[in-house]
Amino acid sequence: MKDAAPQTIYLSDYTPFGFVVEEVHLTFRLAPTSTRVLSRIKFAPNPDATDKTFFLHGEDLKLIAAKIDGKPADPKVTPEGLTCPVPDKPFVWEAEVEISPQTNTALEGLYMSNGMYCTQCEAEGFRKITYYPDRPDVMSVFTVRIEGPHPVLLSNGNPKDSGDGWAEWRDPWPKPSYLFALVAGDLVNFPGAFTTCSGKDVELNIWIRPGDEGKCAFGMEALKKSMRWDEEVYGREYDLDIFNIVAVDDFNMGAMENKGLNVFNSSAVLASPETSTDMNFERIEAIIAHEYFHNWTGNRITCRDWFQLCLKEGLTVFRDSQFTSDMRSAPVKRISDVIDLRGRQFPEDQGPLSHPVRPESFQEINNFYTATVYEKGAEVIGMLKRLVGDEGYAEALELYFARHDGQACTIEDWLKVFEDVTGRDLTQFKRWYSQSGTPRLKVAEDYSDGTYTLTFTQMTPPTPGQDEKLPQVLPIAVGLLNPNGDEVVKTTLLEMTEAEQSFEFHNLASKPVPSLLRGFSAPVVLDRTASREEQVFLLAHDTDAFNRWEAGRNLARNSLMAMVRDGAAPDQAYLDGLGALLRDDDLDPAFRALMLSGPSQSELAQALFEDGVTPDPDAIWQAKETMADTMAATFRDLLPKLAFEGKVTDAYEPNAEQSGKRALGAAALSLMTRLDGGEAAQKQFDKADNMTLQLSALSQLIQAGKDAEAVQAFHDQWKDDRLVIDKWFGLQIGAAQPDQVVDRAKALSAHPAFDMKNPNRFRAVFGALAMNHAGFHRKDGAGYDLLADWLIKLDAMNPQTTARMCSAFQTWKRYDTDRQAKMKAALERIASQPKLSRDTTEMVSRILG
Ligand code: ARG
Ligand code: ZN
Repeated sequence: MKDAAPQTIYLSDYTPFGFVVEEVHLTFRLAPTSTRVLSRIKFAPNPDATDKTFFLHGEDLKLIAAKIDGKPADPKVTPEGLTCPVPDKPFVWEAEVEISPQTNTALEGLYMSNGMYCTQCEAEGFRKITYYPDRPDVMSVFTVRIEGPHPVLLSNGNPKDSGDGWAEWRDPWPKPSYLFALVAGDLVNFPGAFTTCSGKDVELNIWIRPGDEGKCAFGMEALKKSMRWDEEVYGREYDLDIFNIVAVDDFNMGAMENKGLNVFNSSAVLASPETSTDMNFERIEAIIAHEYFHNWTGNRITCRDWFQLCLKEGLTVFRDSQFTSDMRSAPVKRISDVIDLRGRQFPEDQGPLSHPVRPESFQEINNFYTATVYEKGAEVIGMLKRLVGDEGYAEALELYFARHDGQACTIEDWLKVFEDVTGRDLTQFKRWYSQSGTPRLKVAEDYSDGTYTLTFTQMTPPTPGQDEKLPQVLPIAVGLLNPNGDEVVKTTLLEMTEAEQSFEFHNLASKPVPSLLRGFSAPVVLDRTASREEQVFLLAHDTDAFNRWEAGRNLARNSLMAMVRDGAAPDQAYLDGLGALLRDDDLDPAFRALMLSGPSQSELAQALFEDGVTPDPDAIWQAKETMADTMAATFRDLLPKLAFEGKVTDAYEPNAEQSGKRALGAAALSLMTRLDGGEAAQKQFDKADNMTLQLSALSQLIQAGKDAEAVQAFHDQWKDDRLVIDKWFGLQIGAAQPDQVVDRAKALSAHPAFDMKNPNRFRAVFGALAMNHAGFHRKDGAGYDLLADWLIKLDAMNPQTTARMCSAFQTWKRYDTDRQAKMKAALERIASQPKLSRDTTEMVSRILG
């Protein structure tokens, strides 16, 4: 925590460090409140640097001793680090510091979780371990010795030597300090093995607390599939003798790609059919892949500075979504990704926190691990691939790995390989990295004499710090259907570069129906007042699965908006079209389940706001209820059929096929519950033998207000399983009726099993509060006040998680003046706390604008 005014760091200020690090030796003498860290680091002057100041980062360290070439050094220590006079030639720096992992509740640097030691160094946590140039462009080989009375002592790289109470590791691959990791504890391993494409045997392990052995098999398989896939699709082979994964209960994020020693939030790796849902399994598979893929995109090729974060994160998210599409269903994955993008990235990009995929300034880099850097960063790569084609992309990636292996790179390096391979000029495309905000795309059409013309206009509204926007390169995938529903023009990629641009299609016998932005080929808002008939037509006939879903989604959104705005009844044409689709058992159950999920309340609030209507959360909630009730009544006779198709009779497998069926079954159950008051849900709950069925039943019982017994039974069954109890906390708030949400969050935060030091538990309660739209936005402001109270408390312990959760307030300007005033007051109350962290200070001040 800093008392001084927060400093802003700028991309344009980059300068290389004045020294290169040739070797790092670290010794850890572990003790809960007095761990000693001894470092011996070989430095040499960096010929490429002009600034020769010897500055080492260091925070919350007690310096015991410092030497240069064996003689006492004379460092000047500040709260951010130290400077020291050094010789003008290679030298050895030695330091001994003391740190206190036990009291480290920020979960950054070396900390303790359930008696085990672990680390989180990205982005700037290594400076809480020892004095070091803690920046990603300083890369070195590490040798680590760990001394402590723990059976398991792990670090990066390959095991070097070990004995009673100590172990040594050596990582032969130069890496930045953010990829350093250490784990020590009373752990057991779930072993595995993998033979790489060149025949090298790799030892695999998932390290867990005793008792979790039964939750590792799925993660281990996911790891092997990821390793194989990266060889087959990207030609990337693993490069150490061993690959370790460790599950940690207290973790701020999902997981971390430390070289050879990935550390995971237990919720992102541990799974069993009894305790995890299909969605948990899919997420775990994706995160394991994501962290593994970082070994090449992130570790072997890393970032020059933290402004380049999307270089590794956008690319790695893109790679993990390709992997999931290959392992499961590509259209379902695409639809899910777009739902997620619109649910998390669009609100960010369209509000006060909007920032470019490559930000140009920050105060606290942890605040930029955002949906924009990750998910929009991945979309940008998807567009690039569409523009250069699959072959161009493959060649560019080959060149990227060949040219930049072992380097710390920039977005300029990344784009240059595409330019070199394809001969394209990507100057304009680069605006995707520097311009923030979601472009809006308007469409006009014209048909005469067999020629059909589409005229697009693009416009990006101003965002914080960027008043003027320039046209971006938009790959627009288009198909045309004739009035019979036949596709007359197959998917064609239009490349839009101007503010306004027309494209012609010739020799068409009649005016076609356009299917625009197929596969969501660019992350834009398509502003098109397509007629209801046209949407119904596309819902029935579009050959592009994404756009077929999109047509249904548009109809649902328009109908819900009319219900909120004018008190209209649910759109019968939509319900008819949806019904036809639901009856079509040739269609993937997962796809049909997705068709049944309408836009979220928050998405509707944004859409109304953009339409000039002040969104009323209660009215939005009511409209969704009415729509669901109407669907239940309309599809009454169809529900048993859907429930039947949603049933799985084989033994539980978390694969795409089975989980798609269960998703359809769950969607049917939720409508059924509106008719039978929870009878079917109770039955399903009573005989469920997997968590997917148990949880979907519980969720319906909670929504129906018939939950008292089931909630208790669920608790008693699972009270010893912390990951399941997280679900128990979250669901009681997430699925509750709006008027109960705040009271439940209050009551649950007083439950003996509530532990605010554990980010998963804190998020289970207060993340669920913030996500229950109508509950959080309760008119009297009680939701805002409760969240603010707890964020203030948490900030003193864990700034990173606090700051992230402040984004619950980012949409405050959408709402009526009364709610706005209440949210503003909550934000100002947070801002006025005397010792507020740098993380939270930056977030709150950006949100307030
Ligand atoms: N690099 C990690 C991942 O994407 C995320 C770690 C973020 N940590 C943080 N403190 N911001 O998998
Ligand atoms: Zn990542």
